[in-house]
Amino acid sequence: MADLLGMDPARIERLRSPARLEHFEPSLIWSALGFTGDRVAVDVGSGVGFITLPLARAFPDAEIYGCDILDGMVQLLHDAATVEGLANLTSLQMMPDQIPLSDDSADLLIMAQVHHELDAPAPLLLECRRVLRPDGQIAIVDWKDEDNGVSPPAGRRVPPTVIRAQLKTAGFSQVESHPLYRFHTFLSARA
Ligand SMILES: C[S@@+](CC[C@H](N)C(=O)[O-])C[C@H]1O[C@@H](n2cnc3c(N)ncnc32)[C@H](O)[C@@H]1O
Repeated sequence: MADLLGMDPARIERLRSPARLEHFEPSLIWSALGFTGDRVAVDVGSGVGFITLPLARAFPDAEIYGCDILDGMVQLLHDAATVEGLANLTSLQMMPDQIPLSDDSADLLIMAQVHHELDAPAPLLLECRRVLRPDGQIAIVDWKDEDNGVSPPAGRRVPPTVIRAQLKTAGFSQVESHPLYRFHTFLSARA
């Protein structure tokens, strides 16, 4: 369920914690998918920028968009990008299933630790496909559906079989699993 009250300081500290890097290195996403150079990437559910900021640092010639439903998150990401002088990063507020970008405009769209919060994945996945160029890639990373001491409890996890089926229903193809993370499932697909 989308957490509209999610701007509490403890949550923001958790999202910013460098300890996350021990089991969730963001760059594995773009290196696995071969994202390069002067392309366009969108981070949906960008939060404070755990994915968006390193992506923008890694690709100074790319256009990077961070989109979130919470105005507070959008502002925090905007401020962080300004402090770092990341002119290639734009922070945008979105509706739960409306991304404020044109059709066929992105090469890569990432959703990291967002899927388990979604009230309505189907319309959002259709919207992701609209924004991606033909052959663009979506990357969905979310908690493994297992009791491993780190993933949230059962009921707050989405099994990868469910995400695969949702991707296919939204018209994505070539769904692939990338077993790169200890506590996260990483699926990619083509628009
Ligand atoms: C657990 S945080 C993850 C943030 C970031 N991806 C990360 O890994 O640090 C989930 C984020 O998704 C956002 N969110 C939830 N539902 C959303 C939706 N339908 N569209 C866009 N963002 C959403 C929340 O506001 C929150 O910032």
